[in-house]
Amino acid sequence: MSLSALVLLLLLVCVQANFYGIVVNYYPSGNNSTGASTGILYYKLGYSLCLYSVPYYINGQPLVLQKVDEPISGEWCQTEGVISQYFSSNSMFSIPASGIDWIFGIKNGIVSFKIQALVELRIRSDIGKANTSPQTTIIPAIRVPSNCPRNLSLLMFDPDGDIVKCRNGDASLSECSPCTPPSVLSLSPSSCTLSFSPTNSSDEGPYAVQLMIEDFPRQNITLTQTNGPQTIITTNDAISKMPVQFVVRVDPAVPSCTEGLFLPMFLPPTPAHRTQLYTYVNQTLAISIKAQTLNSTISELLFSAPHTVTESQTGPGQFTLTWTPSNSVAGQSHPICFVVQAVLGAAKYHSELRCVIATVALPTTSPNTPACEYEGLD
Ligand SMILES: *[C@@H]1O[C@H](CO)[C@@H](O)[C@H](O)[C@H]1NC(C)=O
Ligand SMILES: *[C@@H]1O[C@H](CO)[C@@H](O)[C@H](O)[C@H]1NC(C)=O
Ligand SMILES: *[C@@H]1O[C@H](CO)[C@@H](O)[C@H](O)[C@H]1NC(C)=O
Ligand SMILES: *[C@@H]1O[C@H](CO)[C@@H](O)[C@H](O)[C@H]1NC(C)=O
Ligand SMILES: *[C@@H]1O[C@H](CO)[C@@H](O)[C@H](O)[C@H]1NC(C)=O
Ligand SMILES: *[C@@H]1O[C@H](CO)[C@@H](O)[C@H](O)[C@H]1NC(C)=O
Ligand SMILES: *[C@@H]1O[C@H](CO)[C@@H](O)[C@H](O)[C@H]1NC(C)=O
Repeated sequence: MSLSALVLLLLLVCVQANFYGIVVNYYPSGNNSTGASTGILYYKLGYSLCLYSVPYYINGQPLVLQKVDEPISGEWCQTEGVISQYFSSNSMFSIPASGIDWIFGIKNGIVSFKIQALVELRIRSDIGKANTSPQTTIIPAIRVPSNCPRNLSLLMFDPDGDIVKCRNGDASLSECSPCTPPSVLSLSPSSCTLSFSPTNSSDEGPYAVQLMIEDFPRQNITLTQTNGPQTIITTNDAISKMPVQFVVRVDPAVPSCTEGLFLPMFLPPTPAHRTQLYTYVNQTLAISIKAQTLNSTISELLFSAPHTVTESQTGPGQFTLTWTPSNSVAGQSHPICFVVQAVLGAAKYHSELRCVIATVALPTTSPNTPACEYEGLD
């Protein structure tokens, strides 16, 4: 037995963690004279505890993970892995379910995790460079009380301006196995909103959400590999396909569904959902978040963002997320999503999900809005 096989086995035996979801996004990085491109893949991985490496490789490379966020009580840990990877042209890849299963007791019967992604890095005729994937993120577990209606609206945006849609994963495309969507959620593909309606207490528990987000060109385009064949992509063809998997926990009923009593309510200056914020390389972006409750106690902010984003508590129910982007993300836009959690005894209550788009403007292009001011997208 080779040493590397041995190490892999030891990892499988030692890892007591359970899977809590994944988000994959990518950016291309430059043209290659051979007609191929390098993609920078951003993985957000959720586990029941913090793992800084995983017992599998992605196209032969180990995934080194950096912590994004972990609730005070443990429960889950989200980490980010960034891999710069060379692709010969377009590339489809999967992460097999191996060694680590989803958390126990998933109500829609998902046990093993599986993802499939399509990374497309041939040159697009409309923009003269390789495609960027649609971008999103989410914390590993979102809580909803069983008696309250809730719309969970995922942030989806596309740096190339493509049309973005989301859909449930398809088992016949190896995107998950099985792909049974949660019975308690209904999906609107164009806005990627998951709607929850008040339900029976027998439906309480964790559900695995296994979505794919895809970008479609606004007109027919040609994909070209230098000295290679061309492919036409129509407005009905997804250019890239990115997995988004996470848990929705249906909790016991809350005495009141009104925001601001048990469920935290956001207050100004918390940015509105989908606000676009601008900054520059080495310039710090600070996002102030404020929430209140009357009948429970706000315990913490939970967030998903690039792992270089840091959090601080500035007062009761007041938090700041801070990001100083490095050169490696110049010109990129990254999603930052958060919820405020409150507690009452053993009960945990989540605010609605809010997300912003943080754009790291290139020094040569001046942004439309001065940094640190908010511009709504709606
Ligand atoms: C360009 O392609 C070659 C393979 O033909 C690869 O080895 C190299 O890493 C690529 N360079 C970049 C910058 O992507
Ligand atoms: C990349 O290569 C394509 C095709 O060769 C070319 O049209 C385009 O201008 C190049 N883009 C950049 C940013 O170099
Ligand atoms: C959810 O969205 C639908 C459609 O926009 C709306 O009719 C409904 O009131 C929303 N529900 C909640 C709880 O916000
Ligand atoms: C809730 O579920 C239980 C068990 O399935 C069932 O007996 C009960 O009738 C349900 N109640 C409602 C209001 O649907
Ligand atoms: C886009 O491509 C499809 C398939 O080749 C073709 O049927 C359609 O007419 C094209 N649409 C436009 C607007 O060119
Ligand atoms: C950002 O800071 C780093 C480290 O101080 C420096 O190497 C880099 O050149 C700076 N980049 C810009 C665009 O100012
Ligand atoms: C919530 O707190 C307010 C203020 O303390 C109190 O008047 C109200 O009765 C509480 N509501 C519930 C449902 O406990």
